[in-house]
Amino acid sequence: MSENRPLNDAEARTALDWYRAVGVDFAVGEEPVDRFAASAAPSRARPAPAPVSEAAPAPAVAISLTSDPTETTALAASAQTLDALRAVMDAYEGCLLKKRATQLVFADGNPEAEIMLVGEGPGEQEDLQGKPFVGRAGQLLDRMLASIGLDRTKVYIANMVPWRPPGNREPSPEEMALCAPFLLRQVELVAPKFLVTLGNVPTKSLFQTQNGITRMRGQWRDLTVGSHPVRALATLHPAYLLRTPASKAMAWRDMLSLKQAIDA
Ligand code: URA
Repeated sequence: MSENRPLNDAEARTALDWYRAVGVDFAVGEEPVDRFAASAAPSRARPAPAPVSEAAPAPAVAISLTSDPTETTALAASAQTLDALRAVMDAYEGCLLKKRATQLVFADGNPEAEIMLVGEGPGEQEDLQGKPFVGRAGQLLDRMLASIGLDRTKVYIANMVPWRPPGNREPSPEEMALCAPFLLRQVELVAPKFLVTLGNVPTKSLFQTQNGITRMRGQWRDLTVGSHPVRALATLHPAYLLRTPASKAMAWRDMLSLKQAIDA
């Protein structure tokens, strides 16, 4: 292929799919800019760098602080019902994740359920459909629940962050801090008897631990989430189980432990 040949439709679609998969899914300008060409061009008019004295102050680094957890805490506390919380979150513009997501992924399942599951954040399918755990990992989660007689009429499901992180990356600590008040309020309003965290991210956050999921899984703890006391169990994330099927035996033990706790 000659280097400068324009892409045909199929190649352009493939390139776009690749960009999307790696998280480049947001156009910042109307026209494409070839940065490689710009940086290869001879730098005719580039001014000579100013001499730097040893005592020169470090250049200011522009950090855009988009988030203020005190604001989300106040907004979350103002919501007296799940519908009100959903409306508050939908109207909130302070989280950059929202700008790049298709929509808010609030929750799925039964708000009266005794069991609440918390995942990490929406993936591509969840972002498109507006519901948590509807992609491949979600289908496995449904099978795990079915194995102990549960389905989405008997559980309530939400995520630590309600907007899709680009390219399915982990939410950053700032994004987690910003969105956590919404999730904590969701737990308070659902008031489940049992809380199950799926994978590392919700486990570290809600169990307030630095220990990884392989150490934390399978152990019951009494937690206070927001102001709500709850029996909590960590288990492996279904997406991890898809990649590491040999770990399904551990997740199966956790499901049995959950069943025992429900039946007790
Ligand atoms: N993974 C998650 O953690 N949450 C979802 O909703 C989907 C996949």
